Amino acid sequence: MAIPDGIIDQVQQNTDIVDVISRYVTLTKAGRNYKAPCPFHHEKTPSFIVSPDKQIYHCFGCGAGGNVFSFLMRHENMQFPETVEMLAEKAGITLPKGIARSDKAGEVENKLFSVNELAANFFASNLAGSRTAREYLASRGVADAAIKKFRIGYAQDAWESLSNFCKSKGVSMDILEQAGLVISSEKGGYYDRFRNRIMFPIMDLKNRILGFGGRVLDSSLPKYMNSPETAIYSKGRNLYGLNFSKEVIKKKGHALIVEGYLDFLVPYQAGIQNILATLGTALTVDQVKLLKRFAKTVVIVYDPDEAGESASLRGLDLFISEDVNVYIAELPKGFDPDSFIRKYGVDDFLKLVKSSKNLFDYKFAKLAGRFSTATVHGKASIVGEMLPTIAKISNAVTKSEMIKKLAAKLSVDEEAVKTELKKLKGDYAARRHTIAPAEVKRDTRKAEIVLLALLLEGGPYVDRVSHALSLEEFKDSSIRDVVSAIFTLHKANKQISPARLINVFSSEGEATMLISEAVNILDMISDKDRALEDCITRIRQDNVKERLAMLQEAIKLAHDRNDGDQVKSLVAEYGNLVRMNKT
Ligand code: CTP
Ligand code: MN
Repeated sequence: MAIPDGIIDQVQQNTDIVDVISRYVTLTKAGRNYKAPCPFHHEKTPSFIVSPDKQIYHCFGCGAGGNVFSFLMRHENMQFPETVEMLAEKAGITLPKGIARSDKAGEVENKLFSVNELAANFFASNLAGSRTAREYLASRGVADAAIKKFRIGYAQDAWESLSNFCKSKGVSMDILEQAGLVISSEKGGYYDRFRNRIMFPIMDLKNRILGFGGRVLDSSLPKYMNSPETAIYSKGRNLYGLNFSKEVIKKKGHALIVEGYLDFLVPYQAGIQNILATLGTALTVDQVKLLKRFAKTVVIVYDPDEAGESASLRGLDLFISEDVNVYIAELPKGFDPDSFIRKYGVDDFLKLVKSSKNLFDYKFAKLAGRFSTATVHGKASIVGEMLPTIAKISNAVTKSEMIKKLAAKLSVDEEAVKTELKKLKGDYAARRHTIAPAEVKRDTRKAEIVLLALLLEGGPYVDRVSHALSLEEFKDSSIRDVVSAIFTLHKANKQISPARLINVFSSEGEATMLISEAVNILDMISDKDRALEDCITRIRQDNVKERLAMLQEAIKLAHDRNDGDQVKSLVAEYGNLVRMNKT
């Protein structure tokens, strides 16, 4: 039984594409949209855009695009009904009886959780049996209580230790591989991913094990080996230790953010329990959103090395965009929270946290170290770097205070800073070039896609286009299909929304990609009415030109046949067409 359209609509309306995609891809805010490197093709600069307003995604690089269902179908290799079921479940919508519940996704997830559980227990028992591993942890100051609480373990120095154990428990290698615990070898077998490493389970807020990080016991490389992205683990979506610290964080109202496992464990053991670790990656929106549920204030405690500094600078803007107050505690050079506490003790560490700088002062101090605060050029550079951060502050009062402060610190005119702020274009769409009418006039496909974009606006535009052009006049057959679907919906008095329109076309094909492309083009059209007229004209002229060429050909053929009457009537038609389209 097919899923009724009403249900599909309902699921779609109760799902946020940003939420779903950010489970798989690290999204960063860019104006009204989010962007990321495209998950469907290899690239360095992000051209993958997700629009929360329109509920669609699109890649300007490879053309991939669609709505939340198409994303899951392509990214997770799921069937359409499966995606609806999965999202329905997440949204708490019950599907009518009679619709086969595949629920494959949930089943796989549960299998991965239980195999991780099995592995964690195995690693824990290995640790109990390995003196070297226990000695290593002792040398790092990790007490037995912490080993137990955080379920720290040890992966043996062997290629098939975990695989053999799991085999004996009847776990399939396929599931182990999907959990990222084994790697398939070229010869066809499997080998353990983690060998001779201290194992740290990474858990979600329900204490379920999502994946692992494994540290070598010596100075060999790589120092850390981590679980790959799996159906349940996504690096940018979780925060290490939050399951243990969330209550304390809530109570205290603020959280300490550190980078590493040991930087989490050592302070935690010492009684600092409002802490979590990012595991060495730059913070993502999802992590900030997750954390925001428990505290509106964070203190970032990072190593003062280059990487740590730029990581916290990047993190800053994210927090501000999400309305989280952010402070930065700087450790002395060469220290991380773990080594600092072990050398100076927890009291000094807390002092350091207390003396943390707010984001403004921190960033200003960093910039003042890079640029001169005395020269015009230096001042301009500092203002230029500070403004993007200030622009992200949503509270108008705070924002205005920051501007005042910045102007005062540099002894520049406050109005000048405000002017610069206005010039700053935070919106991604605005930063891209707008579509000039000339471009539409030159390029038919562009004209058709722009028209499609305008049609997606619905209402009056659909009326105007359907009166001015017939379907046959669209050259691109895929565009024609989508336009046809829009006309049909419009005739049936149905509302036109890109995300819904995509559902008319079953999978991520040409049509779906076109719709998402068109949606993104919409932002670039400066004068919509003018663009509409230009596009209609362009398409018409193209068709006239084509028709004229065809007539010419026919006239020639009739002439060759000596069919005088036919020649006459064709010439008349040609003349009419030329006359009618003279502008
Ligand atoms: N990390 C990683 N892979 C690496 C290096 C680091 O995943 N090759 C992550 C780990 O989560 C690590 C964090 O980044 O905990 C911070 O890295 P780093 O400062 O190099 O390590 P420490 O946590 O200080 O580890 P240790 O003190 O054990 O040397
Ligand atoms: Mn360390």
